[in-house]
Amino acid sequence: MSAQTPLIAPSILSADFARLGEELRAVEAGGADWIHVDVMDGRFVPNLTLGPVVVEAVKRSTRLPLDVHLMIVEPERYVQDFVHAGAATVGVQVEACVHLHRTVAQIKETGARASVVLNPATPPEALQYVLGDVDQVLVMTVNPGFGGQHFIESMLHKVVTLRRWIDERELAVRLQVDGGVAASTIGRASAAGADTFVAGTAVFGAKDYARAIRELRETAELAQREQHARSRVTR
Ligand code: DX5
Ligand code: ZN
Repeated sequence: MSAQTPLIAPSILSADFARLGEELRAVEAGGADWIHVDVMDGRFVPNLTLGPVVVEAVKRSTRLPLDVHLMIVEPERYVQDFVHAGAATVGVQVEACVHLHRTVAQIKETGARASVVLNPATPPEALQYVLGDVDQVLVMTVNPGFGGQHFIESMLHKVVTLRRWIDERELAVRLQVDGGVAASTIGRASAAGADTFVAGTAVFGAKDYARAIRELRETAELAQREQHARSRVTR
């Protein structure tokens, strides 16, 4: 199983919340694959955002799958609520889960896709024993809490390691990056093995959303093709 077709997931954290419906329709028309929703509780991260009520409103405003990223303590208490609100994927921070294996099972029992999220300082080894059970791994390329931060280059090693493990075990696991993803960084993340890209500022900060999404996708696809060609030569 090598990296899958690149997917672009705009993060509504950088959208205009006063016009959220319009913003969602604009990125959907602009070719987005998923909508990324950042849930913050003011405890796991220093910022507060939104809960299931807003997720439910987002669900009514778009046909795109909702990729819900929980940056909250005790996420197991809210999994059910977010799935009922319309989450297709529920992502939990491994640092917030005392019983990660159980929480992953809990997400899957609801019928949602299970994503596990690693903070920059958390090693990929934290996932050794759950990698076969998850649908997605998210490598944070910033410290979570805010949009508009700089991409942490050293996270590319983590992406390379996880890509190798996923391929060696032939798992159908998506490998996502989130934070500072822009036209200037997405190529390196894609070449390292990421195949799913969250972008807040790079999409909602652009004048033309469709163009921004197209540029991200094309840059990711090109880097993926070049990487495949390189690995065929060196194999
Ligand atoms: C950060 C969030 C990200 C954020 C990304 O805590 O998890 O999803 O919205 O924003 P940009 O793309 O602006 O770094
Ligand atoms: Zn996020």
